[in-house]
Amino acid sequence: MAVRPVHLIGDDILREVSSEVNELTPEVSALIEDMFDTMYDKDGVGLAAPQVGVLRRIIVIDTSPKKKNPIVLINPEVVLQEGEQITSEGCLSVPEIYGKCVRPEHVVVKAKDRNFKEITIDAEGLLAKCIMHEIDHLNGVLFVDIMIEEDKDRTAKKE
Ligand code: NI
Repeated sequence: MAVRPVHLIGDDILREVSSEVNELTPEVSALIEDMFDTMYDKDGVGLAAPQVGVLRRIIVIDTSPKKKNPIVLINPEVVLQEGEQITSEGCLSVPEIYGKCVRPEHVVVKAKDRNFKEITIDAEGLLAKCIMHEIDHLNGVLFVDIMIEEDKDRTAKKE
């Protein structure tokens, strides 16, 4: 287990499309553990593999206040999205900028979990926002590409 360096905006690897994971190998399991270590170390609520320099379709998320609800999504696929919310987003790869984006309020996502078992996640609000933000990373998209305006209140506070 280790904290890995996070690649920052301007780094070309963040603009690549990541590949699917075809099998659960020890390397994939180690990567997932390192992604959690890295995310918690930096007080993030989500992290995608390309942010640590690995172009694989793997996401980790934990929106709970005390690291109690770790979620792993491998090869996530959005099967339903509905409604709309205006979010306020930041990103470990985009230091000191926050922005408002339009995201679906409700999403249903199919994926594999850390045991490579099929799961379906039904998410609303904050979790829906995080899932969509992280899936964007797998396609080379950053929140600053889609933000409707900078969230200057949060940017000024450097939350
Ligand atoms: Ni991000």
